[in-house]
Amino acid sequence: MRKMFVLFCLLLSASCVKEPQETSTAGTTRAPHSGPIRIGFSMDTLKEERWQRDKRLVEQRAKEIGAVLDVQVANGDDAVQTKQADNMLTKGVDVLIVAPHNGEIAASIVEAAHRKGVPVISYDRLIRDSDVDLYLSHQVERIGEMQADYALKHVPKGNYVLIGGSPTDYNALLLRKGQMNILKPAIARGDVRIISEQFAREWKAEEALRITEDALTRTGNKIHAIVASNDGTAGGAISALDAAGLAGKVLVTGQDAQKDAMQRIVKGTQTMTVYKPIQPLAFGAVDAAIKLARKEPVETRDKINNGKKDVPSILIPPIVVDKSNVDITIKDGYHTREDIYGH
Ligand code: BGC
Repeated sequence: MRKMFVLFCLLLSASCVKEPQETSTAGTTRAPHSGPIRIGFSMDTLKEERWQRDKRLVEQRAKEIGAVLDVQVANGDDAVQTKQADNMLTKGVDVLIVAPHNGEIAASIVEAAHRKGVPVISYDRLIRDSDVDLYLSHQVERIGEMQADYALKHVPKGNYVLIGGSPTDYNALLLRKGQMNILKPAIARGDVRIISEQFAREWKAEEALRITEDALTRTGNKIHAIVASNDGTAGGAISALDAAGLAGKVLVTGQDAQKDAMQRIVKGTQTMTVYKPIQPLAFGAVDAAIKLARKEPVETRDKINNGKKDVPSILIPPIVVDKSNVDITIKDGYHTREDIYGH
C-alpha cells in the first residue's frame, strides 16, 4: 500500500510540476485562527469494510500532521448527515470532508459550509449541483468499464445481469455508464442480452440476491454473467447462484477487494473485483483539506462536471484483481495472506 501511495504521489507531483490544469482555492472569508487546523469528516456509512479503512486512515493522517479531526457517521440517513455537518460547522471546523449518502441532498451541506466560509471536499462520491471545492475519488467510470470489459472478454456471448448500486450515490450511475460504454456494441450485435439492469437500494446484498433470483427464475437458470457493481452486491448475487447450484459457474464481477470477496475469488465463486487503494485517497483528502483551510492552492489533473460546474478533481487509478493476481493486495499491505487464504 505504501508503494502505491508513493507511486501516486510521484505521478501526482510529476504532473503538477509539468502543467497543473486546475487550481482549486475556496473563495472564503473566514478569519484565520491560531492553533491546529480543525477538519470535519462527514461519512455516510461504515457498512462496507472499505469505509472502516477510510476512517482509520483519515484519522491516522490527521494525527500524523497534527490536525484536529471530528468524524461523524450518518448511517444512511440524509437528515442525520445534514445535522451532523451543521453541528460541526457550528463547533467551528475549518474545512469539511464529505462522503455523501445522497449526492444531491448533500449540496445543502456545501451551501451551509460556504455561508460560513468553510471549504468542502467531496470524498469518493460526487456532491451534485453545488459549488463544492474539490473532488477526491478513484476513476469510477473506468471501474465500470473494467468490470464490463473483464466480463465480455471471458463471456463474449450470453445472458447478462447488471446490478447497480444505490441510485442516490452518483458513483452507481457512473459505474453503469462505464459498464454500458463497453457492453453497448455487444448488445447491438446481439451477442449480449441484458436480462436485468436494476439498482440495489442502499447497495444492499439482499437486493442483489432478489434481483439475481428473479433473473434466474425468468430465464430458467440461464444466466452467464453478473456485472455486480461492488463486492457487497456480488456477495448477494453469489448467494442466489449458490442456492441454484450455480456458484462458480457464472462470472461475477465486484469492486473494493474486500476480504470476503478475496476469499470468494480464491474459492472460485466470485470471478474478479476492482481494487481501489484507500491510503492515497484518505491521506490525499487530509492533505488537501489542510491546504484548502490555509487557502493554499490544491493542484489537480482531472475535473468532473457535477451539474453546476467542472469540479477540480483528483482521481486515483483502480486495479483489476482476479485469481491470477490476488497477491497484489497482500504485497500492498491491504490484506494479509491469512485474511485471504485462511492460513
Ligand atoms: C463506493 C464503493 C462502495 C459503495 C457502497 C460507493 O460509492 O465507491 O467503494 O462499495 O459506495 O458503500
